[in-house]
Formats: sequence, C-alpha cells, structure tokens
Amino acid sequence: MLDGQADPVEPPQPLSSGDTSSMRPNRLFVLASLPIFTVAFVVVPAATSPAEQKAAEAAHGMVVSANVLASQVGVDMLKKGGNAVDAAAATGFALAVTYPGAGNIGGGGFFIIRLADGTAAALDFREKAPQRASRDMYLDSAGNIIPGLSLLGHRAAGVPGSVDGLLTALAKYGTMKRADILEPAIRLARGGFPVDEPLARSIRNAMGDFRKYPAALKVFAPDGKPLQAGDTLYQRDLARTLERIAAEGRNGFYRGETADLIVAEMKRGNGLIDHEDLRSYRSVFREPICGTYRGYDIISMPPPSAGGIALIEILDILEGRKLKPADFHTASAVHYAVEAMKHAYADRAEYIGDPDAVHVPVRELISKGYAAKVLGSIRADAATPPDSIRTGSFSTHERDQTTHYSVVDKWGNAVIVTTTINGWFGSTVLVDGAGFFLNNEMDDFSSKPGVPNMFGLTGGEANAIAPGKRMVSSMTPTIVVKDGKPLLIVGSPGGSTIITTVLQVVMNAVDFRMDLEHAVAAARFHHQWRPDTIFYERSTFSPEVIRQFEAMGYHLLQRPHNGVQGLVEAIMIDPRRGRLIGVSDPRGEGAAVGY
Ligand code: DON
Repeated sequence: MLDGQADPVEPPQPLSSGDTSSMRPNRLFVLASLPIFTVAFVVVPAATSPAEQKAAEAAHGMVVSANVLASQVGVDMLKKGGNAVDAAAATGFALAVTYPGAGNIGGGGFFIIRLADGTAAALDFREKAPQRASRDMYLDSAGNIIPGLSLLGHRAAGVPGSVDGLLTALAKYGTMKRADILEPAIRLARGGFPVDEPLARSIRNAMGDFRKYPAALKVFAPDGKPLQAGDTLYQRDLARTLERIAAEGRNGFYRGETADLIVAEMKRGNGLIDHEDLRSYRSVFREPICGTYRGYDIISMPPPSAGGIALIEILDILEGRKLKPADFHTASAVHYAVEAMKHAYADRAEYIGDPDAVHVPVRELISKGYAAKVLGSIRADAATPPDSIRTGSFSTHERDQTTHYSVVDKWGNAVIVTTTINGWFGSTVLVDGAGFFLNNEMDDFSSKPGVPNMFGLTGGEANAIAPGKRMVSSMTPTIVVKDGKPLLIVGSPGGSTIITTVLQVVMNAVDFRMDLEHAVAAARFHHQWRPDTIFYERSTFSPEVIRQFEAMGYHLLQRPHNGVQGLVEAIMIDPRRGRLIGVSDPRGEGAAVGY
C-alpha cells in the first residue's frame, strides 16, 4: 500500500505466504519463462538466501540486488558515506563477479536516478551493433534466419556499454574514488567466494555451451569438472580487468589491454567488434519517460527501451477504469490489463527503435488521449484477436540475462539499474585473458520482420539491425513518486515480461493496496500481443476465472515446471515513517540489505 490509508479489504494472499516452494521451482527455465521460447542456457538459479534477506527495513540506506554479496558491497559504500550512485556502481561491478550469469561488464543496461531535489535523469548504456553489422547478418542466402547465430558465440555480441555507463554515472553523481568503488569487486574476483548451489547448477547447465567456447571452462571448470557448491570461484583475469578499469577508467576497458583481448577474442570466433567500435562507445543521457497514474508520477526508461513507453501506455489505458482491491485477478480486471498489454506490445513492435536512428513517437504513445481511444476500442466481453489490434497511426518520419538493482541513500536519492548480457552467461563467450562474458544482445534486434526473437518478440523496420544502432529493450527501471517524494523503486529481469512484471507490482501497490512484500510476491501474468496467449504463473487464476477467459476467446498457458515471471528487486519508502523497505523477489536468490 502506498499512501498510508487503511486497507479497504485484506490484500490477497501472495504465493509466498505458505508455500514458497511453488515459487522456487526447478529453475531449468528461461527467466522470462515463456514456454514456447524456452532456451536451455537461460537458467535461473534457485533461491537460497535466508528469508530475512528477502525483505529488510532500515532507516538510512537500502540496496536490493540479485546477489547478497553484491547488495552487501553496496550497503558498505553507503555506510562509508557514499551516495546511492556510489553504492549502485559498486553493486554493479560486484555483480559482474558474484553473479556471472547476468551481472556483467560485457553487456549493457539502463540507469535511472531521481535526486532528492526532484530532478531525474536516465542513462542509456545499452550495447550497440558493431560497425560491421548489417541488416541481414543473421539470414542465410535464402533469407531465412540461421538458428542460434544471434544467440550463441561471437557474432551475437553487441559492443558492451556497462563499464562506460557505470563510470559515467559515477563521474556525474558519485562522490567516492573509482578505485574504492571497484575494490570490493576486485577482492571478490581475486580472493574468490564460495559457489552456492544456484551458481553451481547454472554452471552445470551451461557446460555444453562452454565446451563450444572453452575460455569459460578455465574459470568455471578449472579441473575439467564444473565447480560445485562449496568450491571457491576465483576469477583472476577478471580481477586484472577490473584493476585496469580502476586505474584507467573507461580506457582500462575500451582501449589498451582489455580492448586488445576483446578484439583477439572476436578474431578467434569470427566476431565483428573491433577497436574502433570499442573506442567510440559512449553511454547517453536521455530524458526519462514521465507519466502519471491515479495521482502518482511514474519515471521510467525511454527508448531504446520499450519499457517506459509500454508501462505508461498500459497504465494510461487502465486509468480510465476504476479498480479496487477486490478486483485483483478477477476476469474483468485481467481482461482489460491484457488488452492494454496487447496494444502496448503491438505499438512496441511498430514504433520503438533506437532514438538516435529512428523517430519514436513518444509523446503520442503516452498521451492520455490515445489511451482513451484504445480503452474505448476494448470490448468488455471478448478478447481482441491480435490481427485486429490497431496500432496508433503516428508518423515515424519527423526526423531522421539481465539483473536489476535498486538503491536509496540517506539523502533520499534513488537509483535504479537494470543491466543485462541477455541470455544466462550471454553469448557464453568469455573473453580469454579478460575473464568476462560477452552479451548476446544482438538477438534483441529484429533480425527479420515478423520472426520472433528469443523472447517471442517480433519487430520491423524501427528495430532492424544497422551499424552503430542500439537494439530495443524491455528493461523497465521505474520510480513511482507521490507528492514530490519517491515511493516505490522497482525493476526486474525477464526479457519481454519485464514490462508486465513492473506493471503488476505498481498496480498491486496502487490499485490493490498491497504492501511491498505482497505486491512483489503476488502471482503474475503476461500477454505480449503475439503469441496470442496469456502466460500465467501457477495459482494466478481460479478455475472459474480461467473458464471466463476461455469463454471470452483467450488462449491461456500456465508456465510449466512452476515457472516464474520476473525477479523483482524493489524498495519502498514508507510515507508515514520514512523507513526504507527493501524486498527481493521470493522467486529468486537476491537479497535486500539495509542499514
Ligand atoms: O533488454 C532486454 O529486453 C533483454 N535483453 C533482457 C533480457 C533479460 O531480461 C534476460 N532474462 N531473461
């Protein structure tokens, strides 16, 4: 619940109260858990963090991330007097060490800051296509997609942005020395840390791919066998890379020895990234996407993320209908949410691309007028077939595995970062001698119009591959503000489901008046226009609601193997007491640490 009013009704019980085992499934499952897009190498480790680290309450500062060691690193920075950006950067570099399947320096991401004075900024450190990339690079001579080429191996990698992004944020807003920020990550990489069962399992599951690109074997299977729980993971090459970044800043990554190692790795695997791609990479500050929902201000990520636009478009559509706690997961409430999702994902496919390469009609897509028109087109009693979804007719020619962390400091600055190498262990190419995985973010481009990517997303011209272009993302780091104060800071991994995951946490808090633990834990559903299916977590809907959906013409699919949607890391600032509440999704292994 966000505004301290009394609950009109008891909040619905989330899955986590009682049977948490249902949310800690066999994690041999794509994070986004879209069954038809299951990709074996995207493995979500099972939850092992002690329950008390799933939720924390604190007075001064809070870090919530996918890994307890990394959250602790961030809080240590806060305790030393660092601000939220210092803590976020330290957490980000630590995740590159302690959460190697998704934490990264070989990928990219998005950073949103809302300063205590109310100003907000978005930093885009998304990967870029190498200059030698071309529109049809993943097609054979007959014009068909070459399976796997955008997902595995050297050609799948975009030019990494994470190091430039974290250092740019630090230079603009941070207060601590770069070397101090990187010190814990270097210590964890060189000194090692104990492998837990989730990491051990993900290494075992990736062994087939590591054998194809064997640099990873030296790190994760040093004696020929995959590291097991209890073994120590040492990453000495990664420690040296981090030391070069600590000493030389971006030049320690984009030039000199690290750049040489990346380019040498590219040559070994016929990859495209060259020295000039690295030298010229720059993260970009962009205007955040801002909207309102029932009196709350929403700040989220602009293109090349589709996240902010889609989130606000859906909220704008739903704002036209009254929702109360008793409506939670009723057929009618979910029907309108699903129809709004379908519209937003259809618009995404049509319009969203790299804003430096295509004009994205942002204002039009998030206008309340457009939302009202869409709402008016939704039938109360029937699903709209995907082919009948009309995207807005806006001009585009006016001008030419993921992880998430949230930080709030004692001054009221809020920072939120979602970062990714796309698949679990990215392209599974570890840069030999440099010790980090390269992303497989090129799969987020639309390789061929109408052909779905790993997350089942289709796209067209706006997201076609071009040299130096950024691929569209679903990452949706979001800050909800009430009466000029940050209230809820929320983000998640999960590919195409990130947007609908963040949406549901916001709605659970605003509309269904849940406290943060319930809002995060509550079961989730997802529709992305195509395929024409509502995906849902176990126990989301009652049999009666499912029957009603079927009568309306919906196709439904429960995620198999108790699959989950998203792994939220969120912070709420209790408006009455000013206390910070951190919640790490019970579906995952992350941790909230405060002080
Ligand atoms: O940017 C995106 O939308 C994706 N590359 C995010 C990938 C992700 O969340 C991985 N987890 N399934």
